Amino acid sequence: MSHGHHHGGNHADMLALKAELFARHTASLAAWLPVTGRPRTIVDLGCGTGAGTFTLLTQFPDAAVVAVDSSPEHLQRLKQEADARGLLARIRIVQADLDDTWPDLGTPDLVWASESLHHLADPHRAVQRVYRALPPGGLFAVIELNGFARFLPPDAPEFCPGVEERCHAVNDRKQAKELPHRGADWESTLTTAGFEIADFQTVDIHVDVSDDPGVGRYALMGLRSLREAVADDASSADLAALDELLDPDSPRCILDRPDLAVRTRRLVWAARRP
Ligand SMILES: C[S@@+](CC[C@H](N)C(=O)[O-])C[C@H]1O[C@@H](n2cnc3c(N)ncnc32)[C@H](O)[C@@H]1O
Repeated sequence: MSHGHHHGGNHADMLALKAELFARHTASLAAWLPVTGRPRTIVDLGCGTGAGTFTLLTQFPDAAVVAVDSSPEHLQRLKQEADARGLLARIRIVQADLDDTWPDLGTPDLVWASESLHHLADPHRAVQRVYRALPPGGLFAVIELNGFARFLPPDAPEFCPGVEERCHAVNDRKQAKELPHRGADWESTLTTAGFEIADFQTVDIHVDVSDDPGVGRYALMGLRSLREAVADDASSADLAALDELLDPDSPRCILDRPDLAVRTRRLVWAARRP
């Protein structure tokens, strides 16, 4: 869900919660990667609070991860978690703006960028830099979301059907200006930089609230931030409906809905330096 319009501690909370909700999907992604040999050094570009970092450390027991992000707050959260899991010795934390001069990333066998490339001002240059950092045969995993997660069925709620879709349509128009690389054609960016696409998959994610109560908290955060993003542009009827859905004291609150779920789609490229 997070696409750069959440700020502060709330964003770190949301990333951490999403990491938990999607942990199973992220683990099977890491297991699917067509790596050759056993990676020793892995870079997690735009690591956030460590959703990828911890998954990769589990999947590749011989590896150390260089975790890079520009947000001190996200990195602090990652460090606390690493400490709690006894994994600090296998992680090098690097605070850096990937639009600026790149830090020394060592000699990685695998670079992982999950929902981070579209945040960069010049992702094409970043992809070229990853290419140069990898040895021949090295793998670059690019994971991007196909749009924002949805939480309600398309025809819900009964008192204002389709409100979520309409607010996303409004938000998508704004986002097209703020994050022009969201939904970009990563395949052509990768091949232009010299990569070969070793494999590709789309992963449909659907987590029902009955399977994970974290869905309720995640949906509250996601729809609150959607509410903020469209506050000036959505219709007053839609804003009022969102307010009801988000009000824990209202009988119409999403937390009381058994049909609440997180639905989203991941696109994953495994690109190899020839
Ligand atoms: C949507 S989050 C994804 C985090 C993590 N990879 C995950 O899958 O949960 C995007 C991350 O990219 C980071 N980021 C955005 N712009 C960046 C930049 N210019 N340099 C480094 N990191 C950046 C943000 O701080 C944030 O942690």
